Amino acid sequence: MTGPAAFADPSALRNCWHPVAFSAELTDKPAHADLLGEPLVLWRGAGGQPRASQDLCVHRGTALSLGWVNGDQLVCPYHGWRYGADGRCVAIPQLEDPARVPAKAKIPAFRCQERYGLIWVALDEPRWPLPEVPELENGDWAVLTAGPYRWACDAARQVENFTDLGHFPWVHPGLLGDPDRPVVPRHEVRTDEHVLHYTITRPEAPNSEDFPVFGNETAGPPERISRYELHLPYTIALRLGWGGERGMVYFFASQPVGTEQCAGYVVIGRNYNLDQPDRVLQEFEDTIFGQDQVVVESQRPDRVPFDLAAELHLKFDAVAVAYRKAMRSCGLTRS
Ligand code: FES
Ligand SMILES: [Fe+2]
Repeated sequence: MTGPAAFADPSALRNCWHPVAFSAELTDKPAHADLLGEPLVLWRGAGGQPRASQDLCVHRGTALSLGWVNGDQLVCPYHGWRYGADGRCVAIPQLEDPARVPAKAKIPAFRCQERYGLIWVALDEPRWPLPEVPELENGDWAVLTAGPYRWACDAARQVENFTDLGHFPWVHPGLLGDPDRPVVPRHEVRTDEHVLHYTITRPEAPNSEDFPVFGNETAGPPERISRYELHLPYTIALRLGWGGERGMVYFFASQPVGTEQCAGYVVIGRNYNLDQPDRVLQEFEDTIFGQDQVVVESQRPDRVPFDLAAELHLKFDAVAVAYRKAMRSCGLTRS
């Protein structure tokens, strides 16, 4: 299949949920985030509800993220105008009657929700709900976060790297792969509208001594089963199992900060090693993502070209091929 060069379409991506911050980082102070080139102010209103609006006061263009929260209102730091959750200005202190606010005094407010330890924003009506990952919400699994990993490439490059099976022995020898076993196990990708499903079974690589993070010590045969769900555009739920009770979930979502900038958020759940300090896995992830970053930031173009003719794909690149096809058929790319 050939066609004109196609890249992710920022306007189509407005209709998807994207992570913009870790929940724990959004406290009582407003915070700034960028999503698809839109400057956002994130804040918590009544009852700690997360809110997102444009980070630009309609009066003089001041960043509202420099302001503060008062009850369920966001206060501009320059002249104290107050905005509600819907973006409407509700008070202008300079007026005799501060409540006589002109109808034009409002800023765009966006859909915002909090789930899996992340704050999510959709700039326009979302096409699909967030993936379901009950392991991260059932309370019995230990859950931790790592990142965000801010890379100079588009979110699709970062996601594709997470799904790329052929690089493990080369980029992560001894941690995720073994240079003596570079062959990618056979796998098939099933595409279900905007979700790709595939499973990889491979002989287990030993835990590295520095990072004993995987659950293969006592469980079943020495095989690691990795079940992937790639939810378009940029979210992955990866479930690892070793044939026994032990399970691990890697939840990964990349924030399309701009067309050539992204931030990757990792949320990991596991039902073993419950007492292991979080920093063991966090340092493991920092190492892995650091190894990947150098390689991925060198890729050109810095955005995934969704046209299949633009790069060379072999059979073991089935996921990359399926991802490109699905992004195109779901209308998330443009030429
Ligand atoms: S710039 Fe925000 S109130 Fe004036
Ligand atoms: Fe990697």
